[in-house]
Amino acid sequence: MDIKIRQMMLKDLDKVMEIEPIAFGCHHWSRQSFVNELNNPGGYYFVACSSDNGLLYGYSGFWLIGEEAHITTLAVHPDYRRKYVAERLLLNDIAQSQKVGAGWMTLEVRVSNEGAQNLYHKYGFKNLGLRRNYYQDNNEDAMVLWTENITSSEFQKLVCERVNMLAALKVNLAEV
Ligand SMILES: CC(C)(COP(=O)(O)OP(=O)(O)OC[C@H]1O[C@@H](n2cnc3c(N)ncnc32)[C@H](O)[C@@H]1OP(=O)(O)O)[C@@H](O)C(=O)NCCC(=O)NCCS
Repeated sequence: MDIKIRQMMLKDLDKVMEIEPIAFGCHHWSRQSFVNELNNPGGYYFVACSSDNGLLYGYSGFWLIGEEAHITTLAVHPDYRRKYVAERLLLNDIAQSQKVGAGWMTLEVRVSNEGAQNLYHKYGFKNLGLRRNYYQDNNEDAMVLWTENITSSEFQKLVCERVNMLAALKVNLAEV
């Protein structure tokens, strides 16, 4: 699968809004929320798309709050799941977080969302606690996950190991 990762733009929002309700159900963001995020100086949003930009496979983004990169969204179209699109988006989030000076990464994930938790655990995200009844659609708890210091040599080693593993699987890590 031919993939590149680039900044999200307003022109992507039709395709983002096709994926958003499938990925997050009635708890999903509105188009206006994405417009606001694209205008948020502390927000960083990216899409994984085909090189000719015809297909949009998924997207992710984070807020930089002090030294914390808070992942606000990560979603992949169901037709393209289990092909390491999310992992590539997460690797891009990590690289971009480091570039803008973050020391740590954090996020909330539904306690039932074991697939996403598996992905984050591969990058050393640890469970720091629960936010009770965080999701208003079903009152589900959120697990709060944090990384170690992402500038540490241990974390860099972990990232290198994953990049090498994906390279061995011949996963294209092209990024612009
Ligand atoms: C979670 C989500 C982003 C994963 O996207 P994806 O592109 O399919 O994930 P990847 O192919 O990059 O998966 C990488 C690793 O994550 C883990 N993983 C991802 N999806 C998984 C699943 N459904 N079940 C178990 N493990 C899963 C696995 O360890 C996987 O590696 P493996 O395939 O070698 O076992 C996607 O399922 C999605 O959009 N879900 C709805 C939105 C959502 O839950 N977002 C996360 C909010 S915190």
